[in-house]
Amino acid sequence: MRNLIDIKDLSVTEIEELIKVAEDIMQNPDKYSEKCKHKKLATLFFEPSTRTRLSFEAAMMELGGNVIGFSSADSSSTSKGESVSDTIRTVGCYSDIIAMRHPKEGAPLVASTKTTVPIINAGDGGHNHPTQTLTDLLTIYCEKKRLNNLTIGLCGDLKFGRTVHSLITAMSRYENIKFVFISPEELKIPTYVKVNSNIDYIETKDIEEYIDKLDILYMTRVQKERFFNEEDYLRLKDYYILDKEKLEKAKKDLCIMHPLPRVNEISTEVDDDPRACYFKQVAYGKYIRMALLLKLLDIK
Ligand code: NCD
Repeated sequence: MRNLIDIKDLSVTEIEELIKVAEDIMQNPDKYSEKCKHKKLATLFFEPSTRTRLSFEAAMMELGGNVIGFSSADSSSTSKGESVSDTIRTVGCYSDIIAMRHPKEGAPLVASTKTTVPIINAGDGGHNHPTQTLTDLLTIYCEKKRLNNLTIGLCGDLKFGRTVHSLITAMSRYENIKFVFISPEELKIPTYVKVNSNIDYIETKDIEEYIDKLDILYMTRVQKERFFNEEDYLRLKDYYILDKEKLEKAKKDLCIMHPLPRVNEISTEVDDDPRACYFKQVAYGKYIRMALLLKLLDIK
């Protein structure tokens, strides 16, 4: 039985296989429409979500399976004081696979010890978000036709942004990847992410300093819900706003990504730029999650 708690739970070869399956699903959706017949996915979201939860649910439905779950802690027995462990033991009796998002770092890892059905980490606090990373890898692969030899700028809240942490871990396993970390001093990438991944990087506060060198620019939202005081959030929330002017010096084939939701960090005027990939990225998310569900359920 396999879980996906951390992106490194999947080898580079397995990720390559998932990308191949996702591409095949995109080309031949009918072939997959009954693969998960009689299977149930439970989506347990203790934190808000639009794309992650709905793409998981759409993925399971397109594989012919069913979905149960809840979309906020308030509507589950958590609000009566039930522990995560007891909730998971319960849901494991009703489902074949569980996708779980929780504000506490490590909650999905704990959950995986309480049930025999596979657990997928759909985001744990400011820590990791491996299925967003699979989405990002499929996006990069489809847009750039490679996962090596890339200069990747990550901009915004690199401290609390879990998608950034998982993406760095994943990309550190490919050849000749250079990172440019663009953030205010207070939102710099945590040391543990840099140390664990053994990466080639530079840090700057200035989004324009290296923009002409980037193949990928990954923008992120300042993670309001992780701040201890509102004053700091208000001071930092609009630190970066990517607009047409800032993109003038960027490469013609730059790929602009964002896990979404966007607040102000990308001006809507950029949406029409052919380099804007963030809505394509949303679409890729469903296909890679279909491939992942098949893998973890051991369906060929
Ligand atoms: C991200 C998340 O939840 O970490 N959203 C997502 O899953 N696509 C990014 C964010 O909330 O800023």
